[in-house]
Amino acid sequence: MRSLWLDTAPEIPAEPFSPGAGFDSVVVGGGLTGMTTALLLARAGHKVAVLEARRAGAVTTGNTTAKLSLLQGTGLSRITSHHDAELARAYVTGNREGQSWILRFCDENGVGYERRDAVNYAVTDSGAKSLDAEHEACTQAGLGTELGNASTLPFPVRRTLRLADQAQFHPLEVLAALASELRRHGGRLFEGVRVQGASTPKSGGVELTTDAGAVTARNVVLATGIPILDRGGYFAVLKPQRSYCIALEVTDRVPPEMYLSVDTPTRSLRTARVGGRDYLIVGGNGHKVGHHSNTQGLVDDLTRWAREYFPTARPAYSWSAQDYQPAAAVPYVGKVPAGGGHIYAATGYNKWGMTNAVAASLALSAKILGGHMPWADTLYRTRVTPVDALSTARVNAEVGLEMLTGWVSGLAKTAPASPPEGQGVVVREGRSPIGVCTVDGVEHRVSAVCPHLRGIVSWNTAERTWDCPLHGSRFAADGTVLEGPSTSNLGSGI
Ligand SMILES: Cc1cc2nc3c(=O)[nH]c(=O)nc-3n(C[C@H](O)[C@H](O)[C@H](O)COP(=O)(O)OP(=O)(O)OC[C@H]3O[C@@H](n4cnc5c(N)ncnc54)[C@H](O)[C@@H]3O)c2cc1C
Ligand code: FES
Repeated sequence: MRSLWLDTAPEIPAEPFSPGAGFDSVVVGGGLTGMTTALLLARAGHKVAVLEARRAGAVTTGNTTAKLSLLQGTGLSRITSHHDAELARAYVTGNREGQSWILRFCDENGVGYERRDAVNYAVTDSGAKSLDAEHEACTQAGLGTELGNASTLPFPVRRTLRLADQAQFHPLEVLAALASELRRHGGRLFEGVRVQGASTPKSGGVELTTDAGAVTARNVVLATGIPILDRGGYFAVLKPQRSYCIALEVTDRVPPEMYLSVDTPTRSLRTARVGGRDYLIVGGNGHKVGHHSNTQGLVDDLTRWAREYFPTARPAYSWSAQDYQPAAAVPYVGKVPAGGGHIYAATGYNKWGMTNAVAASLALSAKILGGHMPWADTLYRTRVTPVDALSTARVNAEVGLEMLTGWVSGLAKTAPASPPEGQGVVVREGRSPIGVCTVDGVEHRVSAVCPHLRGIVSWNTAERTWDCPLHGSRFAADGTVLEGPSTSNLGSGI
């Protein structure tokens, strides 16, 4: 599976890594958060490096739907059910700042984007009630949403909630422009360098260990999706949610707005014009990472749905990605506990990172540079402590149960012959759970124990990967780490 964005991405040049260098700031992760933060620091005169384990944009930023909207599903009513009105207003302010910054950046750097209305829709009574509640939350937080019941969708809807004049873009065109600006300001981008640990020596700053050698920095920003290093316990309050997208080539007229259903299953729609072709992107069918046994079935279901309502559309791409749902309903952004005051992280955008990543970058760079943003102090006051005790406990309980059942089912099975092409299975060999799969005619045997905190991985049929149900680490068929909090590969299954 490959996204429309990654398949049509402009080249982002990187340079060879030489270990031993020292920087004012090192940003770990070359997605939207990392590249924006690095650029802001470089513009302020910092000597900055981005260390990216894969390629810039390879993970969530290259597999998003890239709607740049302040209407974010039913997110604001969820925030107001957890927090006071002041924090909800700070959330809107931060996201508005993020949206304005990135659109201004696009204007100044010749990156195209399209202005579009964002429209939530409901097809059930309970969905309509959620929209009423979201409208109320938006109105109180200063967003000019409008309730209605007319849409350009090819099926009847019960209610709509519209926010005019939002935007959509090609996320990798934006990332390439950020990288180019970063370089212009003296910043460096190193790809294929995975950070594996950090220490805070008495002499000050941070020493980072990577799979290619060490570097030092006065400040480090973990812009890795879910933070690596586990110092803040973030993995215990974030739910990794994976969902699916397809891009269909269209010649007939399709709805121009950015639609999002509030009923289950979720359906997200937007258009894109790339390389002279028009596409309709349909997303949805999300679930917790590692918790669905037939992920290919979810892609097929999205395709069926799209073909039913847009019969002349031709499926051209399918892909999937994950983002992290915070127990506290707002992102965790700030200094990492036990980071000696020099390590920062930003996570928990809940599938709304196009604005939240930029807001987090503005806040973190200001903090590092000694500036101050009142909205950020309010928005990011939530810490990884039992502030949201109930949800945190629930997330932990789920994790505990999965850990147990993962081990039991892993140990209960006996080894079969080689799985058929594209299939994988966890079996018991002696006392060890082993993952066995066949991909492109090659059988791979790996340890099924996730190096992060010893969850048992399961096979993802759509992507042909090993996915950990605990905190969302994912590994290629041969055990190479792809994403999530793990910093190392699955062990060999020998
Ligand atoms: C299906 C889907 C649709 C979405 N649609 C939208 C949308 O329409 N609008 C919206 O606002 N948001 C959307 N989002 C959310 C948004 O895409 C993300 O929040 C955002 O891209 C996150 O960017 P990031 O830079 O924080 O993370 P990422 O893009 O994941 O970047 C993190 C980077 O860190 C690197 N990394 C990880 N570990 C290490 C390590 N140890 N060493 C070095 N590098 C490391 C990774 O390789 C990766 O490149 C969507 C998310 C999903 C899953
Ligand atoms: S991701 Fe934490 S145990 Fe696998």
